[in-house]
Amino acid sequence: MILSPDEEAVLAGEEGETRARMLEILVALGKVYGAERLIPIVSAQVSGASYKTIGRWGLDWLQRLDARVSVPTVLNPVGMDRSRWQEMGITPEFAQVQEKVLDAYRRLGVTMECTCTPYYLYSTRYGDHLAWSESSAVVYANSVIGARTNREGGPSALAAAIIGKTPEYGLHLVAARRPQVVIRVEDGDRLSDAAHLGALGYLAGRLVGSRIPLIEGIRPKKDLLKALGAAMAASGAVALFHVKDITPEARIFSYPTGGLEVISLGFDEVSAAMEEIPVDAVALGCPHCSPDELSRIAELLAGKKVRIPVFVFASRDVASRHPEEVAAIEESGAHVFADTCMVVSPAMERFSAIMVNSGKAYAYIPNMCGAAVRLGTTEECIGVATEAGAESPR
Ligand code: F3S
Repeated sequence: MILSPDEEAVLAGEEGETRARMLEILVALGKVYGAERLIPIVSAQVSGASYKTIGRWGLDWLQRLDARVSVPTVLNPVGMDRSRWQEMGITPEFAQVQEKVLDAYRRLGVTMECTCTPYYLYSTRYGDHLAWSESSAVVYANSVIGARTNREGGPSALAAAIIGKTPEYGLHLVAARRPQVVIRVEDGDRLSDAAHLGALGYLAGRLVGSRIPLIEGIRPKKDLLKALGAAMAASGAVALFHVKDITPEARIFSYPTGGLEVISLGFDEVSAAMEEIPVDAVALGCPHCSPDELSRIAELLAGKKVRIPVFVFASRDVASRHPEEVAAIEESGAHVFADTCMVVSPAMERFSAIMVNSGKAYAYIPNMCGAAVRLGTTEECIGVATEAGAESPR
C-alpha cells in the first residue's frame, strides 16, 4: 500500500499509540485485500456495543484506547434502552457493565446514538465512502442509497472512525459492484409487507451467499428494501443487491446478465416460510423502525390492548421526533424502546417463542435469544398480540 507522509507519521506513533495501532489494523486489512491506498470516509457505524455480544474482553479492549474519532460515528444497538432499562427487565448488573461500554465509546468521541439505521440520522449520499459494520445498515447504504462501504467488523469500523479513512478495496470500487447472480421473483406484486420481503430475503440469502444479486420482478419502496436487504445479509452475507429499475445503480448502469446463474423464487416459497406457531411475545423494528413504520404500527394498534408483551424498537432520534406515534403505540400496552433491539438485548431471552415481521430477526432469534420464532406480516403480528385468547401480559 502507498501511504502518505502524514499516514507514515501516524504509523510511526507520532500521534500516539492508539492511532498507530488503529492505522496498523487498516493497513493490514488493505494488504490482505489488495488495496493500494486509504481513502477518506464520511461517517462510521460501529458494531460491538452490546455487552451481551462483546463481554468483558471487548470492554477491556475499548477501555485501553486513547484517541478521538475523526468523522461522525454512531454505535450499533446496545443491550438495553439507556433510560428505560428497568422496564425491559434488565438486571442492574448488566446495566452497569453496559454503561461502562458506553462510557468507553463516549471517551472516544462516539455520538451516543445506538442504532442499526444510521441513514435516518444524517444524510448519507450516493457515492459517499463509509465504514459501517452492522450488516443491515451496510446492505441498505450500498443498495438503496448507492453509498459505498464494506461490511466492516467492529474493530475495523472503529479504526476507520479514528483515522477517518478506510482501505480502498471491495465495494469501494465500482468494478466490484456488478451483479453476480440473478433472482427472478414470480408473483412479486403479492409481496407487500416487510415480512414478505424478509422471507424472500431470508430464502435468497441462503442461496446466494455473499454474491451480489440483481433481483427482477419486484418494485418495493424503501422500507421494504430495508427488510429485504437485512434478511439477505443475515441468512447469507449479502452486502449489496440491485433491484431492476428501482435501486440507484441498477437504474444508472445497465448490467448484462447473460451467463449469470438465475434463481427463481415466488409467493409460494415465501408463504411456506411463514409457518404458524404459538408465541408469547411480539417484537417489531428489526432493523429499527422508520417514521412510516412507527405510524403504521400505531394505526394497527389504535383502540386495542395487547395481551402479550409487544416490543417495538427504533432509534432514540426517530422515536423522539415522533412522540405522538410512540404515545399511541404505548397506549395499547406495547413498549417502544430505543438504543437496543430484540436480538442484542438479554431482555428477550425470557420468552419461549417470539413473533416478528423481520427476516433478519427470524434468522437470528433462535441462536441469539434461545427462543422459537414465527414470521408474520405487521398486521398479523398485531392481530396475534391483541386477539382474545392470547396469553396475559407478563
Ligand atoms: Fe438492527 Fe438488531 Fe435487527 S441491530 S438489524 S434490530 S438484529
